[in-house]
Amino acid sequence: MSVIHKGGKLAASQFGDDFLWGVAMAAQQNEGAYNIDGRGLSIWDVFSRRQGKIKGGHKPYEGCDFYYRYKDDLLLARALGFTVFRFSISWPRILPDGTGKVNKEGIAFYNKVIDECLKLGLEPYVTLYHWDLPHALEKEGGWTSYRMTRWFTRYATICAEAFGDRVKNWIILNEPMGFTSLGYMLGKHAPGKTGMSNFLPAIHNAVMCQADGGRVIRDLVPHARIGTTFSCSEVIPYSDRTEDVMAAKRMDILLNRLFVEPALGRGYPKDDFKFLEKLEIHAKAWKYTERMRFNFDFIGLQNYFPIVIKYSPIIPVIQAMEVKAKTRKVPYTGMGWEINGESFYRLIKKFWLYGGVKEIIISENGAAFKDELVNGEVKDEARIAYFQEYLQAVLKAKQEGVNIKGYFAWTLMDNFEWAEGYKARFGLIYVDFATQLRTIKNSGYWFRDFLHKKSK
Ligand code: NOJ
Repeated sequence: MSVIHKGGKLAASQFGDDFLWGVAMAAQQNEGAYNIDGRGLSIWDVFSRRQGKIKGGHKPYEGCDFYYRYKDDLLLARALGFTVFRFSISWPRILPDGTGKVNKEGIAFYNKVIDECLKLGLEPYVTLYHWDLPHALEKEGGWTSYRMTRWFTRYATICAEAFGDRVKNWIILNEPMGFTSLGYMLGKHAPGKTGMSNFLPAIHNAVMCQADGGRVIRDLVPHARIGTTFSCSEVIPYSDRTEDVMAAKRMDILLNRLFVEPALGRGYPKDDFKFLEKLEIHAKAWKYTERMRFNFDFIGLQNYFPIVIKYSPIIPVIQAMEVKAKTRKVPYTGMGWEINGESFYRLIKKFWLYGGVKEIIISENGAAFKDELVNGEVKDEARIAYFQEYLQAVLKAKQEGVNIKGYFAWTLMDNFEWAEGYKARFGLIYVDFATQLRTIKNSGYWFRDFLHKKSK
């Protein structure tokens, strides 16, 4: 039975006066200016030079030039009615070599962005790590190196000391499952490493940094609200057959449980999954279970689609494969991702049912479609319908008692969508990458009207 009223009337006021309405973006996807004012190279700058790694051979270099256009872009975010701006700090801009000397110009840039946000009435939510590791550190092993926690806590300390007087909301990592699996297991994202021998240490170091980073901010920033974000997808077995159900369970462990459970003090979710036992044994031997835990003020959920899973003996380790939305003939976005607000609702409830989660923020949600700019207009009605459906899910969960404090749309403007290059457009604002001209899409206007009514 449907719990989401797709055609139902939706008003921002239903979410309550203190609900946070934000828009999110990340440094590597937006800033450009990759070799300006002392910035070091990131793993994405280097990875994108490898043939065939990024669709269309696109480079993240120019992005959408946020480095130079931040004032106008922040103004646009505010004009659309948002009062929270989530962005990330580029580690190689702060520490060009990853460690060592601090780049004063990098600090100066974020000072300007933060001050501008505050001036405009945008509360900054700052992500410490959104995938742009300094290339210099990758040369030393990157996320697979045991030195990662030392590197990361120093970087976090510098950020806390520089910005903590004005930034009260901190997000430690963006989607650790995303960057460890795609970057260190499947080789589809930077740095392009593959295999278990890279994946396992990367998981463990990310779990440790997630908690250690939280402690740094707690120690150095008075009254900080500290969170971290998780990519998540409801995993639905393709059939009732035991092997499909078990395959779905394995996928659920990887996609939804691997990073949140250590943070909650439960250790690694090793049941049903032999290879995680190794991590758990390692964690126990070194008495890491306590250190992996951190009492986050909120967790950020980032969901785009559910995933249907079928048993497949030929897929190594997980023995599970996805049955795509297109094959199942259900609605999907321009990237082939299933559109399913009901599933989003169930997923939020699932995370809420973990003991120990105090507050949830939807720190990313959105959709890419094949947008076209015609006569100065982008008629992205499909994106509006997507937002409406997913917001109904948030509202429903909230009305049933889940402590959801905010919703951040992904993303302000079209930008560098990692291995998909610039073709996958997620923005509320259309960017002509050749001229850098911005055009508010109809979905942007929809948000403006939706949020505007709230304040009346
Ligand atoms: C997850 C990532 O955090 C973000 O960088 C990405 O662009 C969106 N999801 C869409 O794929």
